[in-house]
Amino acid sequence: MSRILLLGSGAREHILAARLAASRGAHELFAYMGANNPGIAALCQGSTVGEVKDVAAVAAYAKTIKADWACIGPDDPLALGVVDALAEVGVPAFGPTKTGAQIESSKSYARDLLTQYNIPGCARYRVSSSWEGLPEWVAELGSPFVLKPDGLTGGKGVQVQGDHFTTAEEGLALARTMLQEYGRLVVEEKFVGQEFSLLTITDGEACIHLPAVQDHKRAFEGDKGPNTGGMGTYSCADGSLPFLTGRDIQDAQAINEAVIAALKRATGTSYRGVLYGGFIAVQDGVRVIEYNARLGDPEAMNVLSVLENDFAEVCQAVMAGNLGELAPRFVPVATVCKYVAPEGYPVNPVKNEPIDVSAVDTTKVQLYFGSVDKQAGKLYLKGSRAVAVVAKHADLYAAEALVEEQIKRIKGPVFHRADIATPALIAQRVAMLKQVRQGA
Ligand code: AMP
Ligand code: GLY
Repeated sequence: MSRILLLGSGAREHILAARLAASRGAHELFAYMGANNPGIAALCQGSTVGEVKDVAAVAAYAKTIKADWACIGPDDPLALGVVDALAEVGVPAFGPTKTGAQIESSKSYARDLLTQYNIPGCARYRVSSSWEGLPEWVAELGSPFVLKPDGLTGGKGVQVQGDHFTTAEEGLALARTMLQEYGRLVVEEKFVGQEFSLLTITDGEACIHLPAVQDHKRAFEGDKGPNTGGMGTYSCADGSLPFLTGRDIQDAQAINEAVIAALKRATGTSYRGVLYGGFIAVQDGVRVIEYNARLGDPEAMNVLSVLENDFAEVCQAVMAGNLGELAPRFVPVATVCKYVAPEGYPVNPVKNEPIDVSAVDTTKVQLYFGSVDKQAGKLYLKGSRAVAVVAKHADLYAAEALVEEQIKRIKGPVFHRADIATPALIAQRVAMLKQVRQGA
Protein backbone atom coordinates (compact mmCIF):
# COMPACT_ATOMS: atom_id res chain seq x y z
CA MET A 1 0.00 0.00 0.00
CA SER A 2 1.55 3.33 -0.96
CA ARG A 3 0.23 6.65 0.15
CA ILE A 4 0.25 9.55 -2.30
CA LEU A 5 0.01 13.23 -1.44
CA LEU A 6 -1.49 15.43 -4.16
CA LEU A 7 -0.79 19.17 -3.96
CA GLY A 8 -3.21 21.71 -5.46
CA SER A 9 -6.92 22.28 -5.85
CA GLY A 10 -7.83 23.16 -9.44
CA ALA A 11 -9.34 21.11 -12.25
CA ARG A 12 -5.79 20.07 -13.22
CA GLU A 13 -5.44 18.49 -9.79
CA HIS A 14 -8.96 17.02 -10.02
CA ILE A 15 -7.96 15.04 -13.12
CA LEU A 16 -4.64 14.14 -11.47
CA ALA A 17 -6.61 12.83 -8.49
CA ALA A 18 -8.92 10.87 -10.79
CA ARG A 19 -5.95 9.30 -12.61
CA LEU A 20 -4.11 8.49 -9.37
CA ALA A 21 -7.25 7.10 -7.71
CA ALA A 22 -7.86 4.86 -10.74
CA SER A 23 -4.32 3.47 -10.59
CA ARG A 24 -3.97 -0.30 -10.60
CA GLY A 25 -1.61 -0.35 -7.64
CA ALA A 26 -2.89 -0.24 -4.11
CA HIS A 27 -2.72 3.46 -3.34
CA GLU A 28 -4.22 5.78 -0.81
CA LEU A 29 -4.68 9.36 -1.91
CA PHE A 30 -4.40 12.43 0.30
CA ALA A 31 -4.64 16.05 -0.82
CA TYR A 32 -3.24 19.34 0.40
CA MET A 33 -5.43 21.96 -1.27
CA GLY A 34 -5.31 25.74 -1.48
CA ALA A 35 -9.10 25.74 -1.30
CA ASN A 36 -11.52 22.89 -0.79
CA ASN A 37 -12.22 21.12 -4.09
CA PRO A 38 -15.14 18.74 -3.49
CA GLY A 39 -14.18 16.70 -6.58
CA ILE A 40 -10.70 16.04 -5.24
CA ALA A 41 -11.83 15.53 -1.65
CA ALA A 42 -14.31 12.86 -2.78
CA LEU A 43 -11.46 10.86 -4.35
CA CYS A 44 -9.21 11.06 -1.28
CA GLN A 45 -8.91 9.14 1.96
CA GLY A 46 -7.97 12.42 3.61
CA SER A 47 -7.38 16.05 2.74
CA THR A 48 -6.54 19.41 4.24
CA VAL A 49 -6.84 23.03 3.16
CA GLY A 50 -3.81 25.29 3.57
CA GLU A 51 -1.56 27.76 1.84
CA VAL A 52 0.17 25.84 -0.99
CA LYS A 53 3.03 28.36 -1.02
CA ASP A 54 3.88 27.41 2.57
CA VAL A 55 6.23 24.62 1.53
CA ALA A 56 7.18 23.85 5.14
CA ALA A 57 3.51 23.28 5.98
CA VAL A 58 3.15 21.01 2.94
CA ALA A 59 6.18 18.98 4.04
CA ALA A 60 4.82 18.80 7.60
CA TYR A 61 1.48 17.49 6.30
CA ALA A 62 3.30 14.92 4.14
CA LYS A 63 5.10 13.74 7.26
CA THR A 64 1.93 13.65 9.35
CA ILE A 65 0.10 11.45 6.88
CA LYS A 66 3.26 9.37 6.26
CA ALA A 67 3.15 9.99 2.50
CA ASP A 68 5.29 7.69 0.37
CA TRP A 69 5.48 10.19 -2.44
CA ALA A 70 3.88 13.38 -3.69
CA CYS A 71 2.48 14.71 -6.95
CA ILE A 72 2.74 18.48 -7.39
CA GLY A 73 0.19 20.38 -9.49
CA PRO A 74 0.76 24.16 -9.33
CA ASP A 75 3.71 26.38 -10.22
CA ASP A 76 4.17 28.53 -7.11
CA PRO A 77 5.10 25.73 -4.68
CA LEU A 78 7.56 24.32 -7.25
CA ALA A 79 9.21 27.73 -7.63
CA LEU A 80 9.40 28.01 -3.83
CA GLY A 81 11.09 24.62 -3.47
CA VAL A 82 8.31 22.30 -2.29
CA VAL A 83 10.07 19.32 -3.89
CA ASP A 84 13.25 20.16 -1.95
CA ALA A 85 11.26 20.61 1.28
CA LEU A 86 9.56 17.23 0.75
CA ALA A 87 12.91 15.57 0.02
CA GLU A 88 14.16 16.85 3.37
CA VAL A 89 11.42 14.90 5.14
CA GLY A 90 12.12 11.84 2.98
CA VAL A 91 9.19 12.18 0.57
CA PRO A 92 10.09 11.97 -3.13
CA ALA A 93 7.94 13.99 -5.51
CA PHE A 94 6.77 14.11 -9.10
CA GLY A 95 7.94 17.59 -10.06
CA PRO A 96 11.23 19.47 -10.42
CA THR A 97 13.31 20.92 -7.60
CA LYS A 98 13.49 24.67 -7.02
CA THR A 99 16.56 24.79 -9.24
CA GLY A 100 14.77 22.98 -12.07
CA ALA A 101 11.64 25.09 -11.67
CA GLN A 102 13.65 28.23 -12.48
CA ILE A 103 12.90 27.39 -16.12
CA GLU A 104 9.43 28.76 -15.32
CA SER A 105 10.01 31.10 -12.40
CA SER A 106 12.67 33.19 -14.14
CA LYS A 107 12.07 34.36 -17.71
CA SER A 108 15.73 35.42 -18.00
CA TYR A 109 16.96 32.01 -16.80
CA ALA A 110 14.91 30.29 -19.51
CA ARG A 111 16.13 32.64 -22.24
CA ASP A 112 19.76 32.44 -21.06
CA LEU A 113 19.65 28.62 -20.96
CA LEU A 114 18.40 28.43 -24.56
CA THR A 115 21.15 30.82 -25.63
CA GLN A 116 23.96 29.22 -23.66
CA TYR A 117 23.24 25.75 -25.03
CA ASN A 118 22.55 26.92 -28.59
CA ILE A 119 19.00 25.61 -28.50
CA PRO A 120 16.94 26.78 -31.47
CA GLY A 121 13.76 28.81 -31.05
CA CYS A 122 14.90 31.59 -28.70
CA ALA A 123 13.77 35.18 -29.17
CA ARG A 124 16.19 38.06 -29.61
CA TYR A 125 16.07 39.39 -26.06
CA ARG A 126 17.84 41.46 -23.47
CA VAL A 127 17.70 41.23 -19.69
CA SER A 128 17.70 44.64 -18.07
CA SER A 129 17.75 45.95 -14.50
CA SER A 130 17.84 49.58 -15.54
CA TRP A 131 16.27 51.80 -18.15
CA GLU A 132 19.67 52.65 -19.56
CA GLY A 133 20.22 51.15 -23.01
CA LEU A 134 16.57 50.08 -23.40
CA PRO A 135 15.62 52.68 -26.03
CA GLU A 136 18.69 51.63 -28.02
CA TRP A 137 17.76 47.93 -27.63
CA VAL A 138 14.20 48.54 -28.78
CA ALA A 139 15.54 50.45 -31.79
CA GLU A 140 17.98 47.62 -32.54
CA LEU A 141 15.19 45.01 -32.35
CA GLY A 142 13.40 47.00 -35.05
CA SER A 143 10.21 45.02 -34.46
CA PRO A 144 7.28 45.02 -32.05
CA PHE A 145 8.41 43.88 -28.62
CA VAL A 146 7.30 42.19 -25.41
CA LEU A 147 8.09 43.18 -21.80
CA LYS A 148 8.31 40.39 -19.22
CA PRO A 149 8.92 40.87 -15.49
CA ASP A 150 11.73 38.55 -14.43
CA GLY A 151 10.64 36.69 -11.34
CA LEU A 152 7.66 35.32 -9.49
CA THR A 153 4.67 37.31 -10.67
CA GLY A 154 2.15 34.49 -10.68
CA GLY A 155 2.35 34.44 -14.49
CA LYS A 156 1.12 38.01 -14.66
CA GLY A 157 2.65 41.16 -15.98
CA VAL A 158 3.70 40.23 -19.55
CA GLN A 159 3.04 43.24 -21.80
CA VAL A 160 2.80 42.70 -25.55
CA GLN A 161 3.03 45.47 -28.14
CA GLY A 162 -0.21 45.62 -30.10
CA ASP A 163 -2.14 44.06 -27.20
CA HIS A 164 -1.18 46.06 -24.11
CA PHE A 165 0.57 49.07 -25.62
CA THR A 166 0.75 50.55 -29.11
CA THR A 167 3.88 52.58 -29.79
CA ALA A 168 7.52 51.97 -28.85
CA GLU A 169 7.38 55.15 -26.74
CA GLU A 170 4.43 53.80 -24.74
CA GLY A 171 6.29 50.51 -24.32
CA LEU A 172 9.38 52.25 -23.04
CA ALA A 173 7.34 54.29 -20.56
CA LEU A 174 5.73 51.05 -19.39
CA ALA A 175 9.17 49.43 -19.09
CA ARG A 176 10.23 52.25 -16.79
CA THR A 177 7.35 51.66 -14.36
CA MET A 178 7.74 47.86 -14.62
CA LEU A 179 11.42 48.20 -13.69
CA GLN A 180 10.39 50.10 -10.55
CA GLU A 181 7.85 47.43 -9.67
CA TYR A 182 9.77 44.26 -10.52
CA GLY A 183 13.44 45.30 -10.64
CA ARG A 184 14.30 43.30 -13.73
CA LEU A 185 12.79 42.79 -17.18
CA VAL A 186 13.25 40.69 -20.26
CA VAL A 187 12.67 42.77 -23.38
CA GLU A 188 12.28 40.59 -26.44
CA GLU A 189 11.03 40.51 -30.01
CA LYS A 190 7.36 39.78 -30.56
CA PHE A 191 6.54 36.71 -32.61
CA VAL A 192 3.54 36.46 -34.92
CA GLY A 193 1.92 33.09 -35.50
CA GLN A 194 -0.12 30.40 -33.75
CA GLU A 195 0.64 29.40 -30.16
CA PHE A 196 0.56 25.83 -28.94
CA SER A 197 1.65 23.87 -25.87
CA LEU A 198 3.84 20.81 -26.08
CA LEU A 199 4.34 19.05 -22.76
CA THR A 200 6.95 16.39 -22.08
CA ILE A 201 7.03 14.02 -19.12
CA THR A 202 10.64 13.32 -18.24
CA ASP A 203 12.96 11.76 -15.66
CA GLY A 204 15.78 13.96 -16.94
CA GLU A 205 16.76 11.47 -19.66
CA ALA A 206 13.80 9.61 -21.16
CA CYS A 207 10.94 11.65 -22.55
CA ILE A 208 7.25 11.02 -23.15
CA HIS A 209 6.03 13.76 -25.47
CA LEU A 210 2.32 14.44 -24.99
CA PRO A 211 -0.05 15.52 -27.77
CA ALA A 212 0.18 19.19 -28.76
CA VAL A 213 -2.60 21.35 -27.33
CA GLN A 214 -3.95 24.79 -28.19
CA ASP A 215 -5.14 26.96 -25.31
CA HIS A 216 -7.39 30.03 -25.51
CA LYS A 217 -6.27 32.66 -23.02
CA ARG A 218 -8.69 35.46 -23.81
CA ALA A 219 -11.89 35.51 -21.78
CA PHE A 220 -14.37 36.05 -24.60
CA GLU A 221 -15.26 34.67 -28.01
CA GLY A 222 -13.24 35.90 -30.94
CA ASP A 223 -10.17 36.13 -28.66
CA LYS A 224 -11.50 39.31 -27.09
CA GLY A 225 -11.33 40.53 -23.51
CA PRO A 226 -8.72 40.14 -20.82
CA ASN A 227 -6.25 37.26 -20.51
CA THR A 228 -7.27 34.40 -18.24
CA GLY A 229 -5.66 31.21 -17.00
CA GLY A 230 -7.09 29.59 -20.15
CA MET A 231 -10.76 29.23 -21.16
CA GLY A 232 -10.40 26.00 -23.08
CA THR A 233 -8.17 23.71 -25.08
CA TYR A 234 -8.22 21.03 -27.72
CA SER A 235 -5.94 18.31 -29.03
CA CYS A 236 -6.20 16.07 -32.08
CA ALA A 237 -6.17 12.31 -32.52
CA ASP A 238 -2.81 12.40 -34.33
CA GLY A 239 -1.06 14.37 -31.57
CA SER A 240 -0.57 17.38 -33.86
CA LEU A 241 -2.79 20.43 -34.47
CA PRO A 242 -4.60 21.42 -37.68
CA PHE A 243 -2.24 24.33 -38.42
CA LEU A 244 1.04 22.51 -37.66
CA THR A 245 3.29 20.40 -39.87
CA GLY A 246 4.96 17.17 -38.75
CA ARG A 247 8.20 19.12 -38.83
CA ASP A 248 6.83 21.70 -36.35
CA ILE A 249 5.98 18.94 -33.87
CA GLN A 250 9.37 17.27 -34.29
CA ASP A 251 11.14 20.60 -33.82
CA ALA A 252 9.17 21.43 -30.65
CA GLN A 253 9.85 17.96 -29.22
CA ALA A 254 13.56 18.29 -30.06
CA ILE A 255 13.66 21.70 -28.33
CA ASN A 256 12.09 20.22 -25.17
CA GLU A 257 14.64 17.37 -25.26
CA ALA A 258 17.49 19.83 -25.68
CA VAL A 259 16.22 21.91 -22.74
CA ILE A 260 16.00 18.80 -20.54
CA ALA A 261 19.59 17.88 -21.45
CA ALA A 262 20.74 21.48 -20.90
CA LEU A 263 19.07 21.61 -17.48
CA LYS A 264 21.01 18.52 -16.46
CA ARG A 265 24.30 20.02 -17.60
CA ALA A 266 23.56 23.44 -16.12
CA THR A 267 22.30 22.25 -12.73
CA GLY A 268 24.05 18.90 -12.35
CA THR A 269 20.74 17.20 -11.53
CA SER A 270 18.02 15.57 -13.58
CA TYR A 271 14.88 17.57 -14.28
CA ARG A 272 12.01 15.31 -13.18
CA GLY A 273 8.34 15.94 -13.83
CA VAL A 274 6.64 17.76 -16.67
CA LEU A 275 8.37 20.26 -18.92
CA TYR A 276 5.75 22.45 -20.59
CA GLY A 277 6.97 24.19 -23.72
CA GLY A 278 4.91 27.21 -24.75
CA PHE A 279 5.60 27.48 -28.48
CA ILE A 280 4.51 29.62 -31.37
CA ALA A 281 4.54 28.46 -34.99
CA VAL A 282 5.95 31.34 -37.05
CA GLN A 283 6.84 31.97 -40.68
CA ASP A 284 9.86 29.69 -40.82
CA GLY A 285 9.34 27.18 -38.00
CA VAL A 286 8.66 27.22 -34.27
CA ARG A 287 9.83 29.55 -31.51
CA VAL A 288 9.73 29.37 -27.70
CA ILE A 289 7.39 31.78 -25.92
CA GLU A 290 8.03 30.43 -22.43
CA TYR A 291 8.63 27.33 -20.35
CA ASN A 292 6.57 26.02 -17.46
CA ALA A 293 7.65 23.40 -14.94
CA ARG A 294 4.30 21.60 -14.56
CA LEU A 295 1.19 20.42 -16.34
CA GLY A 296 -0.89 23.20 -17.87
CA ASP A 297 -4.41 24.00 -16.76
CA PRO A 298 -6.50 23.29 -18.92
CA GLU A 299 -3.89 21.32 -20.95
CA ALA A 300 -3.79 18.62 -18.24
CA MET A 301 -7.39 17.72 -19.04
CA ASN A 302 -6.49 17.03 -22.68
CA VAL A 303 -3.24 15.14 -22.24
CA LEU A 304 -4.24 13.09 -19.18
CA SER A 305 -7.48 12.08 -20.94
CA VAL A 306 -5.51 10.29 -23.67
CA LEU A 307 -2.37 9.01 -21.91
CA GLU A 308 -3.33 5.39 -21.33
CA ASN A 309 -0.53 4.31 -19.01
CA ASP A 310 -1.28 3.94 -15.32
CA PHE A 311 -0.47 7.47 -14.13
CA ALA A 312 0.88 6.47 -10.71
CA GLU A 313 3.30 4.14 -12.52
CA VAL A 314 4.39 7.01 -14.76
CA CYS A 315 5.06 9.22 -11.72
CA GLN A 316 6.96 6.44 -9.96
CA ALA A 317 9.08 5.77 -13.06
CA VAL A 318 9.92 9.49 -13.28
CA MET A 319 10.92 9.64 -9.61
CA ALA A 320 12.98 6.43 -9.88
CA GLY A 321 14.69 7.60 -13.06
CA ASN A 322 13.57 4.62 -15.12
CA LEU A 323 10.96 6.21 -17.35
CA GLY A 324 12.80 4.75 -20.36
CA GLU A 325 11.51 1.29 -19.40
CA LEU A 326 7.92 2.41 -19.76
CA ALA A 327 6.28 2.31 -23.22
CA PRO A 328 3.86 5.22 -23.59
CA ARG A 329 0.41 4.49 -24.98
CA PHE A 330 -2.14 7.02 -26.16
CA VAL A 331 -5.80 6.65 -27.01
CA PRO A 332 -5.95 7.96 -30.60
CA VAL A 333 -8.78 10.43 -30.04
CA ALA A 334 -9.25 14.18 -30.10
CA THR A 335 -10.07 16.03 -26.87
CA VAL A 336 -11.92 19.26 -26.17
CA CYS A 337 -11.98 20.99 -22.80
CA LYS A 338 -14.04 24.09 -22.09
CA TYR A 339 -14.27 25.90 -18.79
CA VAL A 340 -17.40 27.48 -17.42
CA ALA A 341 -16.40 30.58 -15.48
CA PRO A 342 -18.45 32.87 -13.24
CA GLU A 343 -19.97 35.91 -14.93
CA GLY A 344 -17.53 38.80 -14.64
CA TYR A 345 -14.45 36.53 -14.61
CA PRO A 346 -11.59 37.37 -14.54
CA VAL A 347 -12.01 41.04 -13.58
CA ASN A 348 -15.03 41.07 -11.26
CA PRO A 349 -16.41 37.54 -10.94
CA VAL A 350 -19.62 36.72 -9.09
CA LYS A 351 -18.93 34.58 -6.02
CA ASN A 352 -20.85 32.28 -3.71
CA GLU A 353 -23.72 31.87 -6.19
CA PRO A 354 -24.94 28.31 -6.77
CA ILE A 355 -23.95 26.36 -9.87
CA ASP A 356 -25.87 23.20 -10.80
CA VAL A 357 -24.16 20.54 -12.90
CA SER A 358 -26.61 17.73 -12.10
CA ALA A 359 -28.20 17.69 -15.58
CA VAL A 360 -24.88 16.93 -17.30
CA ASP A 361 -24.67 13.43 -18.79
CA THR A 362 -21.34 12.20 -17.43
CA THR A 363 -21.37 9.19 -19.72
CA LYS A 364 -20.78 11.67 -22.56
CA VAL A 365 -18.38 14.19 -20.99
CA GLN A 366 -16.17 14.31 -17.94
CA LEU A 367 -16.45 17.10 -15.39
CA TYR A 368 -13.45 18.37 -13.46
CA PHE A 369 -14.06 20.88 -10.69
CA GLY A 370 -11.96 24.02 -10.38
CA SER A 371 -12.98 26.94 -8.23
CA VAL A 372 -16.16 25.58 -6.63
CA ASP A 373 -17.08 24.55 -3.12
CA LYS A 374 -19.84 22.30 -1.83
CA GLN A 375 -22.19 23.12 1.02
CA ALA A 376 -25.16 21.00 2.03
CA GLY A 377 -24.87 19.05 -1.21
CA LYS A 378 -24.89 22.16 -3.41
CA LEU A 379 -22.01 23.58 -5.48
CA TYR A 380 -21.06 27.26 -5.20
CA LEU A 381 -18.88 29.46 -7.42
CA LYS A 382 -15.71 30.69 -5.72
CA GLY A 383 -14.66 33.27 -8.32
CA SER A 384 -12.23 31.58 -10.70
CA ARG A 385 -12.66 29.04 -13.53
CA ALA A 386 -15.37 26.80 -12.10
CA VAL A 387 -15.85 23.52 -13.97
CA ALA A 388 -13.97 22.01 -16.91
CA VAL A 389 -16.13 20.02 -19.34
CA VAL A 390 -14.11 17.48 -21.33
CA ALA A 391 -15.04 15.25 -24.25
CA LYS A 392 -13.09 12.68 -26.24
CA HIS A 393 -13.96 11.52 -29.73
CA ALA A 394 -12.17 10.21 -32.82
CA ASP A 395 -13.40 13.36 -34.56
CA LEU A 396 -12.43 16.74 -33.09
CA TYR A 397 -15.66 18.47 -34.09
CA ALA A 398 -17.76 15.65 -32.68
CA ALA A 399 -15.89 16.11 -29.37
CA GLU A 400 -16.61 19.85 -29.55
CA ALA A 401 -20.31 19.19 -30.20
CA LEU A 402 -20.46 16.85 -27.18
CA VAL A 403 -19.01 19.53 -24.92
CA GLU A 404 -21.46 22.14 -26.21
CA GLU A 405 -24.44 19.81 -25.83
CA GLN A 406 -23.59 19.13 -22.20
CA ILE A 407 -22.13 22.48 -21.10
CA LYS A 408 -25.49 24.12 -21.87
CA ARG A 409 -27.03 21.97 -19.14
CA ILE A 410 -24.96 23.67 -16.46
CA LYS A 411 -27.11 26.21 -14.64
CA GLY A 412 -25.89 29.30 -12.84
CA PRO A 413 -24.42 32.75 -13.48
CA VAL A 414 -21.64 31.37 -15.70
CA PHE A 415 -20.31 31.70 -19.25
CA HIS A 416 -18.02 29.76 -21.55
CA ARG A 417 -16.43 30.23 -24.95
CA ALA A 418 -18.66 28.50 -27.49
CA ASP A 419 -16.14 29.22 -30.28
CA ILE A 420 -13.29 27.06 -28.95
CA ALA A 421 -12.54 24.08 -31.25
CA THR A 422 -15.31 24.93 -33.69
CA PRO A 423 -14.68 24.43 -37.43
CA ALA A 424 -14.93 28.21 -37.95
CA LEU A 425 -12.30 29.11 -35.34
CA ILE A 426 -9.92 26.39 -36.45
CA ALA A 427 -10.28 27.36 -40.12
CA GLN A 428 -9.36 30.89 -39.07
CA ARG A 429 -6.26 29.66 -37.23
CA VAL A 430 -5.16 27.55 -40.21
CA ALA A 431 -5.69 30.50 -42.60
CA MET A 432 -3.79 32.88 -40.29
CA LEU A 433 -0.69 30.70 -40.11
CA LYS A 434 -0.85 29.94 -43.82
CA GLN A 435 -0.76 33.67 -44.48
CA VAL A 436 2.14 34.16 -42.08
CA ARG A 437 4.03 31.31 -43.73
CA GLN A 438 3.47 32.73 -47.17
CA GLY A 439 5.20 35.83 -45.89
CA ALA A 440 2.12 38.03 -46.02
P1 AMP B 1 3.64 34.34 -20.53
O1 AMP B 1 3.31 35.04 -19.25
O2 AMP B 1 5.09 34.21 -20.80
O3 AMP B 1 2.81 33.11 -20.72
O4 AMP B 1 3.12 35.30 -21.67
C1 AMP B 1 1.75 35.53 -21.80
C2 AMP B 1 1.42 35.64 -23.25
O5 AMP B 1 2.17 36.68 -23.83
C3 AMP B 1 1.77 34.42 -24.10
O6 AMP B 1 0.82 33.41 -24.04
C4 AMP B 1 1.83 35.04 -25.46
O7 AMP B 1 0.55 35.19 -26.01
C5 AMP B 1 2.40 36.40 -25.19
N1 AMP B 1 3.85 36.42 -25.48
C6 AMP B 1 4.85 36.21 -24.61
N2 AMP B 1 6.05 36.32 -25.24
C7 AMP B 1 5.79 36.58 -26.53
C8 AMP B 1 6.60 36.81 -27.71
N3 AMP B 1 7.93 36.81 -27.65
N4 AMP B 1 5.96 37.06 -28.88
C9 AMP B 1 4.61 37.08 -28.96
N5 AMP B 1 3.80 36.90 -27.89
C10 AMP B 1 4.38 36.66 -26.69
N1 GLY C 1 -2.82 27.00 -19.75
C1 GLY C 1 -1.74 27.84 -19.38
C2 GLY C 1 -0.98 27.42 -18.21
O1 GLY C 1 -1.26 26.42 -17.56
O2 GLY C 1 -0.01 28.08 -17.90
